[in-house]
Amino acid sequence: MGEQRRVPLGVDVTQMSHARAYDYVLGGKDNYAVDRDGAEQVMALAPDLPVVAMAQRRFLIRVTEMCARLGIDQFLDIGTGIPTSPNVHEAARAIIPDARVVYIDNDPIVLLHNNALLAGDDGVVSIQADVRDPDEIFKHPSVRRHIDFEKPMLLLFVGLFHLVDDEDDPPALVARFRDRLAPGSHVMISQFCTDGSDPAAKAKIEEISEHSTASMNFRTRAEIEQMFDGFEILEPGVVDVQEWWPDEKAPPTALKVAAGVGRLN
Ligand SMILES: C[S@@+](CC[C@H](N)C(=O)[O-])C[C@H]1O[C@@H](n2cnc3c(N)ncnc32)[C@H](O)[C@@H]1O
Repeated sequence: MGEQRRVPLGVDVTQMSHARAYDYVLGGKDNYAVDRDGAEQVMALAPDLPVVAMAQRRFLIRVTEMCARLGIDQFLDIGTGIPTSPNVHEAARAIIPDARVVYIDNDPIVLLHNNALLAGDDGVVSIQADVRDPDEIFKHPSVRRHIDFEKPMLLLFVGLFHLVDDEDDPPALVARFRDRLAPGSHVMISQFCTDGSDPAAKAKIEEISEHSTASMNFRTRAEIEQMFDGFEILEPGVVDVQEWWPDEKAPPTALKVAAGVGRLN
């Protein structure tokens, strides 16, 4: 009940939110009972879910750093989630101090937390928008102010497309963005992968997601590779997220996330 009274406007605590459940899995505090309950039901079958979530965060930071070292100074992070430190702007700005970052998510709680955190941080903004409407993103005043589409950028779709249904056609959505990118731009994509995932844990997360903010769409590695159409897929390819040039070895997990990075030549 105490939790109910603090609920910000526009936030529904009766329905599991993927942004908030992911925050819980990562050890965050910006979540509610319905999110924790959903995450716990999955972790009863896949107790190592936090391992794969942390590996995905490390992948995100590693690729951000790699791109910043290449001189890329603008970052469009779509499906950014509730802020977790280090985040993209911290990693990028450690290398390029005036790097610009636009964080995008369609869950209102993300905007709420990001705005509180980023207030006064010049060159870093957070907006509420949906990846399924690329035009809304391209014409958004904050995107236009911070991102120069004539110059290379890193486009992040990390842990996002399993929350986008086949009928919304993720490869076609990526292509809409690709067609706006300058050569030298990079795209990073990760999502839950059918290949090698424990069937019972996969079925549970799919079942729980039916009552959440978005349904869950596992995809095969081959289907995920299709999202990189028109990009050169960098080594080591589309692989388990723990295997994307890790600094340290993480053990294999019950639920698999496949991850890759593409470059537009
Ligand atoms: C699993 S979290 C990943 C967060 C972060 N990218 C990371 O890897 O740590 C997925 C995020 O995608 C957001 N999301 C889901 N569907 C979306 C959509 N159609 N457009 C924009 N964001 C979406 C969710 O609200 C959630 O915050």
